[in-house]
Amino acid sequence: MATTKLWGGRFTAKAAEWVDEFGASIHFDQQMAAEDLEGSIAHAKMLGQQSIIASNESEQIVAGLKALQQDLIAGKLTFDVKNEDIHMNMESLLTEKIGAVAGKLHTARSRNDQVATDFHLWVKHRLPHVLDVITDLQQELLTLATRHAGTIMSGYTHLQHAQPITYGHYLLAYFDMFQRDYDRFEFNQLHTDILPLGAAALAGTTFPIDREFVADELGFGDIYHNSLDAVSDRDFALEFLSNAAILMMHLSRMAEELILWSTYEFNYIELSDDFSTGSSIMPQKKNADFAELVRGKTGRTYGALMALLTTMKSLPLAYNKDMQEDKEQVFDVMDTVIASIKIFTGMLNGLKVHEERMLASTQDDFSNATELADYLATKGVPFREAHAIVGQLVLQGLQTHTPLQKTPLATLQAAAPQIEDDIYHVLQSETAVNRRTSIGGTAVENVKKEIARHEKELEAR
Ligand code: ARG
Repeated sequence: MATTKLWGGRFTAKAAEWVDEFGASIHFDQQMAAEDLEGSIAHAKMLGQQSIIASNESEQIVAGLKALQQDLIAGKLTFDVKNEDIHMNMESLLTEKIGAVAGKLHTARSRNDQVATDFHLWVKHRLPHVLDVITDLQQELLTLATRHAGTIMSGYTHLQHAQPITYGHYLLAYFDMFQRDYDRFEFNQLHTDILPLGAAALAGTTFPIDREFVADELGFGDIYHNSLDAVSDRDFALEFLSNAAILMMHLSRMAEELILWSTYEFNYIELSDDFSTGSSIMPQKKNADFAELVRGKTGRTYGALMALLTTMKSLPLAYNKDMQEDKEQVFDVMDTVIASIKIFTGMLNGLKVHEERMLASTQDDFSNATELADYLATKGVPFREAHAIVGQLVLQGLQTHTPLQKTPLATLQAAAPQIEDDIYHVLQSETAVNRRTSIGGTAVENVKKEIARHEKELEAR
């Protein structure tokens, strides 16, 4: 007889312990213990209310589950791998507490809709926290951008000096990227906020259950309207992983710039001591370990997304044991993404910005070449021709180590007679920045307006 298993009735032989262990999920799905109890309490109440079980039985079960909630908080629950997963562990703990009546809890329910419900609840409980830490990061970006709305630095394309921008403008680019992340996680809530419980194994149930009641109890905004979809769907988890992967990609890009810009060669910024580490051999070292670690953790986040996409690929509908592989990825990525965002907020908070170095990077680098070409274009020279003229002047300047703004007027006029004395004002990086008032441009007045707009958005959140 092998009836020690909750499902053991039709079995005669027992699996070896190591085989059981392979099939078990309790070592990780115990993370959903609170959600499992929450879901069971709602289900038990509903069973009583619908007279599917007697009301005193429902009350006993609910009281037992509430006692387990206390035990869980007190750290007094111990789980056994023999009970496979969190659902059967909880049922067995409940049986220890209240006896055979515990066996009525699983009426009109299957582990298939139960696990889906727990998982939905687990993600649903945590998404608001993700949104909060993104908001904190965005607020930090605004604070820094306010301080540096007028801090001029080199803008890059291909990692080559391109045109001057402000550091504030750069920071707001990330603000907007994280805004899209915020929007995606907010939307993620919509697909998470759907109750699977009541689908039972796959086909619904013959018992007169009240799914709306359970949804209300658990705070779900909607219920699955197809029992097969309810137990098959892991889109909400995939959406979470995909959103996290994109967010981590954003963080990794900023991490890369933090690391690069704090090198001796760039020296644009310095990370605070509390977000840097030293070397065990080289006393002078100050390494951007935390930025590097976030950049590195982007890898495991992508891995998690690929893993679950691949697990779900080609799965026939309804529950398959493959789906037990869904949770660890999501648990891990939830921790990773929240911690990484918080690390970034802390890093930006203590960041030292070397404004004079940033400005200096725009002084002898020909990043004002477009200004001269635009200048000629406004004087009627076709842009293509202007481009070629300035290209020649840049070449000369490179050979004589003379930036455009230090090139004598006579030399400039020899290349293009349209050039007048006002060009020296135009060629200043500050002028270059402040004339870029087109919508979305880097001008200081634009940056300040954008900051004000974003401050309002955050206040309204
Ligand atoms: N431990 C399982 C999981 O995490 C729970 C659902 C099991 N259902 C089943 N029919 N075997 O996916």
